[in-house]
Amino acid sequence: MQYDLIIKNGKIVSSESTLECDIAIVGEKIVALGKFNDVESKKIIDAQGKYIMPGVIEAHMHCQAPFQGCLGANTFYEQSISGAFGGVTMFMDFANMKKGDSPYKQVLARAEEMQESAIDFSVHGKFVESTEEAINDIKKMAEAGIPTFKIFMTYKKEGVMSDDETMLKVFESAKEVNGLPMVHCESNAIAEANIEKCQLKNDMSWVNFAKCKPILCEAEAFDRAVNFAEYVGNALLVVHTTNEKALNTARRAHEQGLPIYVETGPHYLTLFDDLYKNENGYLAICSPPLRNSKEAEALWKGLQDGTISLTGSDDCTFDIDEKSMFLEKNEDGTWKQDFTKVVNGLSGLEVRLPILLSEGVNKGRLSINKVCALTSTNIAKIYGCFPQKGVIAPGSDADIVIVDMEKEVILSKDTLHNNISYCLHEGMKIKGYTIMTIARGKIIIENDQFKGEKGRGRFIKRKINSQYLKKYGLN
Ligand code: URP
Ligand code: ZN
Ligand code: ZN
Repeated sequence: MQYDLIIKNGKIVSSESTLECDIAIVGEKIVALGKFNDVESKKIIDAQGKYIMPGVIEAHMHCQAPFQGCLGANTFYEQSISGAFGGVTMFMDFANMKKGDSPYKQVLARAEEMQESAIDFSVHGKFVESTEEAINDIKKMAEAGIPTFKIFMTYKKEGVMSDDETMLKVFESAKEVNGLPMVHCESNAIAEANIEKCQLKNDMSWVNFAKCKPILCEAEAFDRAVNFAEYVGNALLVVHTTNEKALNTARRAHEQGLPIYVETGPHYLTLFDDLYKNENGYLAICSPPLRNSKEAEALWKGLQDGTISLTGSDDCTFDIDEKSMFLEKNEDGTWKQDFTKVVNGLSGLEVRLPILLSEGVNKGRLSINKVCALTSTNIAKIYGCFPQKGVIAPGSDADIVIVDMEKEVILSKDTLHNNISYCLHEGMKIKGYTIMTIARGKIIIENDQFKGEKGRGRFIKRKINSQYLKKYGLN
């Protein structure tokens, strides 16, 4: 047989084990694993000493998404390049929604916008209200290969919050189509009441942003969403979880077998709320807010013990100009701090895998197999594109990232490829980095260069295995 690509001598990582063998690729697919000596192949890569992982899947990002008066700096094509440098071979964004919009039409429009991507892609539905028409769209979305539906429990003033009635209806209708609700858990009531108190005191400092959205603000909403899921009898995915209290709720749910899937992001593992004390602390404003190192350690524990099933970057491409566009300065040139005038969100698409390799694997907190599960396999399973994605196996798409666990990189706005002129991880030493990214059989990152093509990404239809929705567990 004539192969297109053979990757030899690498250590192939799955969520379960690491295997030393070769990978044979024909066209866009992996066709065999084994030892391939004296075979014909158009290209052979020697990956001696390197780890070969399934391509990273990003299921939580906001690109070109109008929010709080901002849009984001990058196009989907630019984001696909930045992601590819961090090993991302598929990403999913959310439909842009406002009241009156059809969720179904909006996911189709979003998929159209994403066509320019160099990597494969999908879209999540989003709900901001529960009119009959909107709820009826759930079935249409699932039939179109979009079985995941986002709900925000906060951002009322921004016009994207779902009230409890909407949440309940979406949960119920999602259940009928093997769909999975994804929820941003923060109590709007707690956040808004606190913000009003700060406004009365005229103290809108960056530090007070975090104080307005304390752990209980998140944990209350987390509990409520879990209770709704239990009541309806469907699975739930909670995005960007930041704290131990919420994890303990998830643990109790898991003990009962409830399919509650928890995501956290690299920023909550590595950045802390002391950043809000800085003059430029507005750059770290995201929701939920950054917490302290104790909560971060609880998150690492949650990753280790399986309470957290997946990671997502929650990438936003707000550059300094957008982060500061509604702010004013004092006479001495310092910011007139007002956190309500700062768009929420941080970038992170490119650094998720490197941070987990460096802070997780190389610091002995996580096995590389766990990182594989958290960045790819579990995401493919939960979001319904496994085994096409998320695993290196015959028949799967040849979405592969080659990793050098010895490679050292200093994170910086200059070393990343996201066109953003600041980096909250500036100066952070990373050991363990991607050296090659292959998307559907084509090398798209090699020798620190992007070699992909605009528009080569394809829309991936998804369908979730119902076993993951009935009972907690991803085996
Ligand atoms: O601060 C954040 N996370 N901004 C993006 C929107 C969201 O809440 O996920
Ligand atoms: Zn969110
Ligand atoms: Zn988000």
